[in-house]
Amino acid sequence: MLSHSGRFFLPGDPGAENLQLSHESNEAMMRETISRLRRSFEEDCAAITGSENWKSVRDKYLAREGGLITGALKKLRELPKEERPAFGQAMNTLREFVEERLETRLQEVRAGERDRPAVDVTRPGFPLEFGSAHPIKSLQAEIEEIFVGMGFRVFDLPEIESDYYNFEALNMPPEHPARDAQDTFYFNAVQLLRTHCSSVQVHAMEALEPPIRAISTGKVFRRDPFDATHSPMFYQVDVIAVEEGLHMGHLKGMLDVFLKRVFHPGIKMRLRPGFFPFVEPGAEVDISCIFCSGRGCAKCKQSGWIEILGAGMVHPRVLEMSGIRDPRITGFAWGMGIDRVAILKYGVDDIRLFFDNDLRFLNQF
Ligand code: PHE
Repeated sequence: MLSHSGRFFLPGDPGAENLQLSHESNEAMMRETISRLRRSFEEDCAAITGSENWKSVRDKYLAREGGLITGALKKLRELPKEERPAFGQAMNTLREFVEERLETRLQEVRAGERDRPAVDVTRPGFPLEFGSAHPIKSLQAEIEEIFVGMGFRVFDLPEIESDYYNFEALNMPPEHPARDAQDTFYFNAVQLLRTHCSSVQVHAMEALEPPIRAISTGKVFRRDPFDATHSPMFYQVDVIAVEEGLHMGHLKGMLDVFLKRVFHPGIKMRLRPGFFPFVEPGAEVDISCIFCSGRGCAKCKQSGWIEILGAGMVHPRVLEMSGIRDPRITGFAWGMGIDRVAILKYGVDDIRLFFDNDLRFLNQF
C-alpha cells in the first residue's frame, strides 16, 4: 500500500501516511516495505495447510483487487518519476518470488492431500462391545457335549426338509391325522420347514449300521402364534439309539442321567404313556417341578411335575422303512424343546425374550 504522498507502508505501520521523507528515506522505506511484505508472505506461505487455505494466501498478495503486491504495483505511478524504476523492479522481483513459492507450495499441498489416508488413523476408536453366546445356543452346545461324551454322533441336518424325512418315514403317511398336531409351513408338496428334529432317526439309520447312537439339534418351525408360550420357530434336540436288545430300561436310564446333568442331580423323573406315530410304546416324560421340588406350586399347577419331553421305542415300521429288518435290533428315541429347558432352567416366563435380541435380557447370561 502507498500513502497519500506515495510512500510505501504496510497496514499497521503507525502514522506512516503522515511521513514526509527525502529520496534516501523513500528508498529505505521501500526496502523496508518489500522485506516486510516478503517476511509476512513467507510466514503465511509456511502456514498453508490445504488448497482452500492456499487460495486465500494467493489472493491476499496477488488478487487483482486488493492484493498487497498488486496494489503496491498499481500505485507505482503515484511515485516521483525517478524513483519508479527501482521500486518497480524490486516489486516485480518480489512478485515473481511470491508466484514461484506459491506454485511450489501448491504442488506440496496437493501431494499431501493425495497421500492423506481416507481414514484418520489418529482419531480415537469406538469402544468395542464384547458379545457372548446366546443362552439357547450355549444350552444347545452343552447338550451336544453331554452326548458326544456318551459316544453319540452329531448330525447337522437341513431345516428345509422333505415330507419323506419329516413325516412319511416316521410312520406318518399323507392324510395321517397326527400331521395336524404339527401345523406345517410347506414350500410345495414335497418340501417343508421341518417341524421337529426327529428326522435324525431316519438319516442316522440310513447313514450308519447298528449299533447307532445319534443326536441332532437345531431350529424347528410350526405355524404357531408368537406369544409368551409359543413361537413359530424354536429349538429341539432329538436322540436315537439302535442296537440289539435295547429296551425301555435303557431309555429310562439314559434320560435319568441326562436330565440330572442338564437340570440338577436331585431331579426326579416319571414316564406316562404318550402317543407319537414313530414310537411304540410311546411316553411323555415329566420331571419333578424345579421351582417347588415337587411340593406343588403355580408353575406346575400344583401337580409337582412338569412335562419336558416325548420318548419311546422306535416303531417297527420306522426301523423297517430305514432298512433295519432284523427283529432282534431295536431302538429308542426321544425329542425335547431346548427353549423349554432354558425357560425352566433360567426361570424365564416369556419365550419371546429369547428372540427379541434385547441386550438387557441377553447380558444376564
Ligand atoms: N418329535 C416329537 C415332538 O416334536 C418328540 C419325540 C421325539 C417323541 C422322539 C418321541 C420320540 O414333539
